Amino acid sequence: MNQNLAAAAELAHVVEADRAHVWHHLTQHAPFFTGADPRIIVEGKGMRVWDIHGKEHLDAVSGGVWTVNVGYGRERIADAVREQLVKMNYFAGAAGSVPGANFAKMLLDKMPGMSRVYYSNSGSEANEKVFKMVRQLSHSVYGGKKSKILYRERDYHGTTIACLSAGGQQERNAQYGPYTPGFVEVPHCLEYRNQFPDAEDYGIAAANAIEEVILREGADTVGAICLEPITAGGGVIVPPDSYWPRVQEICKKYDILLHIDEVVCGVGRTGTWFGYQHYGIEPDFVTMAKGVASGYAAISCTVTTEKVFDMFKANAEDPMSYFRDISTFGGCTSGPAAAIENMNIIIEENLLENTLQMGDYAMDKLRELQDKHTCIGEVRGKGLFLGVELVKDRDSREPADEKMVQQVVGKSAQAGVLIGATNRSLPGLNNTLCLSPALISTKDDIDEIVSCIDLRLSEVFG
Ligand SMILES: Cc1ncc(COP(=O)(O)O)c(C=O)c1O
Repeated sequence: MNQNLAAAAELAHVVEADRAHVWHHLTQHAPFFTGADPRIIVEGKGMRVWDIHGKEHLDAVSGGVWTVNVGYGRERIADAVREQLVKMNYFAGAAGSVPGANFAKMLLDKMPGMSRVYYSNSGSEANEKVFKMVRQLSHSVYGGKKSKILYRERDYHGTTIACLSAGGQQERNAQYGPYTPGFVEVPHCLEYRNQFPDAEDYGIAAANAIEEVILREGADTVGAICLEPITAGGGVIVPPDSYWPRVQEICKKYDILLHIDEVVCGVGRTGTWFGYQHYGIEPDFVTMAKGVASGYAAISCTVTTEKVFDMFKANAEDPMSYFRDISTFGGCTSGPAAAIENMNIIIEENLLENTLQMGDYAMDKLRELQDKHTCIGEVRGKGLFLGVELVKDRDSREPADEKMVQQVVGKSAQAGVLIGATNRSLPGLNNTLCLSPALISTKDDIDEIVSCIDLRLSEVFG
């Protein structure tokens, strides 16, 4: 067999092995048995990835789910991970590690007011840790009160049953109940889909709606509220400026711990280290995962204040009072080793500044598209975290047909640009295109992404 034929046979073998044995995430597999091939990505460099057939794509979604923030093919991260693994790959997290300690210090330097890092492996797990801490405090400090956890309509906090119980996306949750008790929903804060048309200030009204829920449930029953700083998969929702200060005020008033889920926004995505830092708020918990090591290793962090941490060490005589939780792979050293290099890259290459500049540039370009295409209802976002909500009619704001939205995504991929869209999250409202290119994006990259969307919108919506 000549070399080309051998390579083709090897690839065909991989595709068939995948088709026969791999269960892909978030995927209906039936089309793979009636002609379509599963997508297999084999290589990445900078902003670009290549599939198994050698087709090149510009990745406008950082690995599909806003993760590969510093771009593909970063040898210095791989080198740092390799060096760490051959020296010390793992020991259970009851012990410390050199990269674990060093990354914690580096991270907390970027998070004034926060002081402790608890390591685990996924965004869901990081959020579960907070839920467990809140529940434990309910028992150990509040005599069984303050056990309820509030979450917001349209937010997503992960895939486990407890995280789905805190999930405000009906289609993500559907068919996976019964859910964990003690999670209570508050209204969303997307002004474009305004539920308080008579309010003078939408941000204040949406925040006051949280207070109403607290009063309805009884403030002494509510321990925490879990919110995305900017909602991601629920439609890239940037709250109005007045929203966050009022939310903070309400939390302080009723002694409710504020948990900010930075799994998507954390570590640079919006042009600040963390999304909440745009708003001057002081959280009690911050969770993060995706961008922490840009997908070079699995790592998530649950970060708390010293005040929260102290409550778990105040009573050393009580054998049940410390946080009795473990994440086996939270002891892997590859995560913090990769996270240190990831953060060094962001600092040395000035990627926060680039994110702000390219984010503004992308926003301007998308707003120009909005002038041209009446199917664009709203463009929103911060930094390189952008959403384009598609509608049938601008006046009525009736959402665009989901199949057409998916066609825009599919045709863009065929044309070599990977973009995303809200997917099986909210009934009838999976109509927002999602863009989250790596923080290294250039104007040329943004131009290529926007011009691809321009052409696809013309093809699909006319
Ligand atoms: C805001 C938010 N929180 C939590 C998660 C869950 O993270 P993971 O998939 O790493 O468990 C996600 C995943 O998309 C997310 O978008």
